[in-house]
Amino acid sequence: MTERAADRVPRGTSTGRHSGEGPSAVRVRDALDDAVSHAGPGVLGAGEVLGGGGMTPIAEEAARAARVLHPEDHRMPRPPQRRVLTVANQKGGVGKTTSVVNLAAALALHGARVLVVDLDPQGNASTALGVEHRSGTPSVYEVLLGEIALDEAAAVCDRSPDLLCVPATIDLAGAEIELVSMLNRESRLKVALSTGALDRLDVDYVVIDCPPSLGLLTLNAMVAAPEILIPIQCEYYALEGLSQLLSNIGLVQSHLNPGLHVSTILLTMYDGRTKLADQVTHEVRTHFGELVLRTVIPRSVKVSEAPGFGQTVLTYDPGSRGAMSYLDAARELAVRGAARDTARPDDRRADDEKESR
Ligand SMILES: Nc1ncnc2c1ncn2[C@@H]1O[C@H](COP(=O)(O)OP(=O)(O)OP(=O)(O)O)[C@@H](O)[C@H]1O
Ligand SMILES: [Mg+2]
Repeated sequence: MTERAADRVPRGTSTGRHSGEGPSAVRVRDALDDAVSHAGPGVLGAGEVLGGGGMTPIAEEAARAARVLHPEDHRMPRPPQRRVLTVANQKGGVGKTTSVVNLAAALALHGARVLVVDLDPQGNASTALGVEHRSGTPSVYEVLLGEIALDEAAAVCDRSPDLLCVPATIDLAGAEIELVSMLNRESRLKVALSTGALDRLDVDYVVIDCPPSLGLLTLNAMVAAPEILIPIQCEYYALEGLSQLLSNIGLVQSHLNPGLHVSTILLTMYDGRTKLADQVTHEVRTHFGELVLRTVIPRSVKVSEAPGFGQTVLTYDPGSRGAMSYLDAARELAVRGAARDTARPDDRRADDEKESR
């Protein structure tokens, strides 16, 4: 279908476009070689293969809006066990927050109950979901300090009763320093996201938005979740730092959270007009294989406008290609999750029991 073909990029085998490689293609490949060689065994999860008109632009838009807004016709499978995903990349501005809120909204719109944990003092996820996050609002900061329980901080998003958000206030900016002297400083979020607390909220997914750093907040997120989702912007610089991210994930896996693995890579801000975007997507797919979602998020003005209205792109402009691509990405995520056991609730329950002793 023409509408989606533009959102997607060639996969797998080289096409003529890639045959005459320029210096940028070589740089892209070198950066990824470096990243993958730092990943260590077990860091990269086992990906799974998924199964995959001649309309006017207005008809295409209407068809997309109908798919986004009439979920009963396109329900996504609910995960057999609760899934906890950390969305991380210490590189700034690669689409972490945008992906968190739009994937969460798409999952919630299509039958799942989703909790977004905003772990970034910038509070961008809270803004995009239209959730109060002025200083003094019960937030993830108090949850990390152990002052309040998770459900006391979780707010229900106006536009979707199945979408919850634990907001971040500016107070969280001091948390990196305050946590340093605290007991179990790296596992405070994990303790807060206990099976009991998540059962009370009755959520199928927890999606954690990380700040652009590899500090204590991101470490807490990596200890709290078995799955990591890495958004990669389709630009060369977006690959820088990937090796450091993967080696950090390896360290956390070895010392603090053996179940941690990269389950998903999402290519963001794809601009079909640039050759570099194609080179990056091609090389990322070559290196990370089936971990990379087939759906690629296009660069789209609607996606970047939506947070300014306290909305996700799914409600702001359901007929846009941005909304459709996040819906497709969420579906892939859901289908993959339904096919494998990633959340390991028994392990988490055992951990909870150990901690409460
Ligand atoms: N698909 C897209 N099309 C156009 N703009 C986008 C898209 N995705 C994200 N943006 C814009 O790019 C900027 C960075 O996105 P976002 O805030 O999601 O990145 P981030 O990785 O969370 O950043 P940070 O590291 O600061 O937390 C934002 O202004 C956002 O609106
Ligand atoms: Mg962000």
